[in-house]
Amino acid sequence: MDLKTAQPLLQLRGVSKRYGSFAAVDAIDLEIRQGEVFALLGPSGCGKSTTLRIIAGLEEPDEGLIRLRDKDIFSSVDNVLVPPQKRNMGMVFQSYAIWPHLNVMETVAYPLDIRRVSAADKAERARAAIRQVGLEGFEDRPSTNLSGGQQQRVALARALVYEPEILLLDEPFSNLDLRVREQMRVELKLLQRRLHIGVILVTHDQVEALTLSDRIAVMNAGRIEQIGTPVELYDSPRTAFVRDFIGAFARIRGVVKSTEGDFVTLGVANAGTVRGRLQANARLAPGDEALLAIRPEQVRLDTSDNALEARIDALLFTGDRYEAVLNCGGQRVETWLPRTVNGKPLREGDVITLDLPQNAATVWAR
Ligand SMILES: Nc1ncnc2c1ncn2[C@@H]1O[C@H](COP(=O)(O)OP(=O)(O)OP(=O)(O)O)[C@@H](O)[C@H]1O
Ligand SMILES: [Mg+2]
Repeated sequence: MDLKTAQPLLQLRGVSKRYGSFAAVDAIDLEIRQGEVFALLGPSGCGKSTTLRIIAGLEEPDEGLIRLRDKDIFSSVDNVLVPPQKRNMGMVFQSYAIWPHLNVMETVAYPLDIRRVSAADKAERARAAIRQVGLEGFEDRPSTNLSGGQQQRVALARALVYEPEILLLDEPFSNLDLRVREQMRVELKLLQRRLHIGVILVTHDQVEALTLSDRIAVMNAGRIEQIGTPVELYDSPRTAFVRDFIGAFARIRGVVKSTEGDFVTLGVANAGTVRGRLQANARLAPGDEALLAIRPEQVRLDTSDNALEARIDALLFTGDRYEAVLNCGGQRVETWLPRTVNGKPLREGDVITLDLPQNAATVWAR
């Protein structure tokens, strides 16, 4: 299924939420498509949860329009506000709201009780939701006698049981340890692909956003910095904020010597010159201070016509490679290095040559 041509499931236009004079959400525009996992990614306090709560109907915006398929569910102009229970969205919060007096079956079936579903239908649908999250056999277990990962699955089953059109997840796995979190990530992706429902995922964890999402909106101080696929955001960050938030870059400071079309040549103090592609929105002229940024996995150890020498100050072993701190003409540069070069292990103190392929390096204004 081509997500690009899919009809919009949910649209937000100019949605703002202020607390006093502070804009927690500042005129954001979003469009989520049928069958898509869409992440709201950004640092603490940037307005992710507020946006999600606005979508769920738990928070009323000051301005804007929200449309679910072809129906307005909020409009400040037309005075529309559809209550949460009429929006057909399932929500899972960061801290699992599990009731101690209910077992798994009762917890999952609870939303159907509120919706007055018949007893037979209720049991069948609750069983199906429990199966979807891999908890069959746990139906009679008190919800509190479960591990964190299992409790989060119960919360997921409870959100799925009335077959919502959209699943809203606010940091659903942040209370789980790393291994369980990774496992839940894979299971959520498989479940979403099977059910083909829209998912809006709030996270401050870029790995979670990159691995799970079809598209990501990077948020900063109540605004959206950039929306794109994980590959677009990783390969072509449009702002310094997105560049610094997603993935790692090796960065080298320099001064512009010359520009030739899309390429810029930088002088790097005490190290030589190096060339890179001009970042899309950057305006640079000779003499300007600039920053060359390259993904660490693109840096090669080789001599070339676009290389700089550096000394290894520290090697931090991470299993498949080193994170390295280098000294490049007195400037500190951080990148990754392989465990060996031509069969020889790298050592701190070694002088190496960094080949920086010019098409992989972008030059930013500083
Ligand atoms: N009820 C409230 N009254 C006043 N300010 C609020 C209220 N709710 C949220 N805020 C503020 O709005 C901003 C956005 O909050 P929000 O909960 O959306 O952030 P977040 O991106 O989800 O952050 P985190 O990753 O820490 O959960 C924060 O600065 C927060 O302090
Ligand atoms: Mg939050």
